[in-house]
Amino acid sequence: MSVQLGDTAPDFTQESTEGAIHFHDWIGDGWAVLFSHPKDFTPVCTTELGTVARLKPEFDKRNTKVIGLSVDPLKDHEGWARDIAETQGTALNFPLIADADRKVSELYGMIHPNADNTFTVRSVFIVGPDKKVKLTLSYPASTGRNFQELLRVIDSLQLTAKYKVATPADWQDGDDVIITPAVSNEEAKTLFAEKGFTEIKPYLRTTPQPNK
Ligand code: BEZ
Repeated sequence: MSVQLGDTAPDFTQESTEGAIHFHDWIGDGWAVLFSHPKDFTPVCTTELGTVARLKPEFDKRNTKVIGLSVDPLKDHEGWARDIAETQGTALNFPLIADADRKVSELYGMIHPNADNTFTVRSVFIVGPDKKVKLTLSYPASTGRNFQELLRVIDSLQLTAKYKVATPADWQDGDDVIITPAVSNEEAKTLFAEKGFTEIKPYLRTTPQPNK
């Protein structure tokens, strides 16, 4: 069974570069991004971890913790972390799970045997404060992920958790948003009284981003 949107993120305890991680306790009452990469000491993975380390202040701003994972042992993670510091202009500043026994990888379906029987693919799980899975992504080993896109999704998730809105295609923070269909025009007049809304079609209504 794969982990699907709306599921409670499977809880686990596993070793990491920052000691044992008890996943739900570690998340606390904020948000989390759990992402797997195929293998230590590989080029695309090295750039990904450097990128996430550089973006850490952006995740912090969003009350979101990040945690990486591969099926390599802790000793390899520690050696590789030195290479990341040397080559990426930043030290690793978030934990890397050492999932050598595949406990977490199997729990989350991060190994896709028809792609590679040995290593995890590039999976991403965004987990909310309620410990529910809000996003899943699977990228192939050969394609490094766009972590700006993950920040954009977190912005959208946090906005839609608070207001009765959704975000349109290619939305960026500050753009107009969409009023969800469950909201009547009468309710919309009250909810979005300050900024108003535009009815393009009865099912397509936009309003300026409420928290801007
Ligand atoms: C990489 O991170 O560069 C990589 C890892 C596994 C397979 C292909 C590329």
